[in-house]
Amino acid sequence: MSNYPKKFDFIVLGSGIAGLTFALKVAHIGKVAIITKKNRTESNTNYAQGGIAAVTSKEDSFESHFQDTITAGSGLCNEEIVQGIVEEGPDRVKELIQLGMKFSQRETEGGNHELDLGKEGGHSNRRILHAKDITGREIERSLLDSIASNKNIHIFENQFAIDLITTQKLGHSKLNRCVGVYVLNNETKLVETYSANTVVLATGGCGKVYLYTSNPDIATGDGTAMSYRAGATISNMEFVQFHPTCLYHPKAKSFLISEAVRGEGAELINLNGKRFMEKIHPLKSLAPRDVVAQAIDNEMKRTGDDHVLLDITNKPARYIIERFPNIYKTCLSFGLDITKEPIPVVPAAHYQCGGVQVSRNGETCINGLYAIGEVSCTGLHGANRLASNSLLEALVYAHRAAKHCLENPAPQIDTNLPDWHSGEAIDADEMVVVSHNWDELRRTMWDYVGIVRTTKRLERALTRVKNLQGEISDYYWDFTVTSDLLELRNLATVAELIVKSALNRRESRGLHYTLDYPEANDKFAKKDTLINLR
Ligand code: SIN
Repeated sequence: MSNYPKKFDFIVLGSGIAGLTFALKVAHIGKVAIITKKNRTESNTNYAQGGIAAVTSKEDSFESHFQDTITAGSGLCNEEIVQGIVEEGPDRVKELIQLGMKFSQRETEGGNHELDLGKEGGHSNRRILHAKDITGREIERSLLDSIASNKNIHIFENQFAIDLITTQKLGHSKLNRCVGVYVLNNETKLVETYSANTVVLATGGCGKVYLYTSNPDIATGDGTAMSYRAGATISNMEFVQFHPTCLYHPKAKSFLISEAVRGEGAELINLNGKRFMEKIHPLKSLAPRDVVAQAIDNEMKRTGDDHVLLDITNKPARYIIERFPNIYKTCLSFGLDITKEPIPVVPAAHYQCGGVQVSRNGETCINGLYAIGEVSCTGLHGANRLASNSLLEALVYAHRAAKHCLENPAPQIDTNLPDWHSGEAIDADEMVVVSHNWDELRRTMWDYVGIVRTTKRLERALTRVKNLQGEISDYYWDFTVTSDLLELRNLATVAELIVKSALNRRESRGLHYTLDYPEANDKFAKKDTLINLR
């Protein structure tokens, strides 16, 4: 049965801050399809607690935000990109407010209201715009409300993008151009073809490649893996950011204790009540994330304990409940009153600092394909992302990519695309193989490619990832595709990219720390790790 392509001007994969913002900015010139594998609110953005870093107060300056970003990035940020994003930030934030975003306000001494600016690790000034501790949820609400009344934007939920369709894969031309996407409709279980002149990856990161992560289940590196298979260049994947403080509780899955809690005075202590950040960094518990995560890892190894504690009981209970209502309520649901007792925490995989390499307008090296948000590598984060710079980057790059599309209309494509071929596919009845491989992959990455690495452990991990890829590939070609299998395939690709990138970097820098090369090496300064299939 022929499956006529669903034809759009723009296809956006993902419904977080980057994808939704881009869609809103181009919808007046063409039809936009937003394709999302779960429901529209299920994105990494939705779970962001901290906020958006931007210079909005008289006490702050672009120079200070620039410098903090560069310092966190450990010599690997692209300075021109950092400067551009920092300076563009306030305008993008204003647009978000105009769309209906409600950031928390505070009353000044004179009785007026102004933005309540939070503080997080590595920032020398208060500059985090937030909506209490549910900033991401509020951003999604305001963007989705704006999209609801836009007749040119169509949201397709429960649709899993399998692979990009490119002219090279179709054997049409030497110039590689993205012309569409094959999508598994999770309701009908059929694979459908979507075509568009422009395709935008806004699929977020890959936290689920690790056993413990702050990310929701959707974070399986789909965009990074898909674009790698299509020929895009992938950059700096060794830099996986581990958030220092996720709630340690057997029943709490992926629950983050925002860095803003430390920004407001919480301190890290060990199980004997001793502060351990004092000797490590002048900013103590508010040091950049790579430093804090490594210090916690070290403290847990030194003491043999399986977690450390974060103590905010030095603040009045009323203040804690008002400023962090979601964290307070969630912890209370696990029997923990954070106004009275310290919070058990551990580090967990949180953010992909590398990704699909893009130009200053979000273009990848495949014509017609853009990447924005966490899936991309712009040069802003370098070897370690400064807290709350990611939502800022997503807003700026959604704007730049949209502007670039408006100013450079993509040529029309031939929409006569072939149907997806499932070959000899039969229904899979051995799902246990898929779930076993999921567990094995995530445990391998946690044990061998975590906060502290060695060459031997990385090599071991690569061997195991390759074995798993062999099994996944057999399964992929023999059976009907399912979301679980597709996610596993993408996670295995991302795992391979992380391990290979980590093996390439024979030094320690930012988030990549290896016992075999414990110091930074000038030879690797300013040198991105690039991988592609060519
Ligand atoms: C947090 O609230 O700690 C997360 C902020 C971020 O990852 O930028």
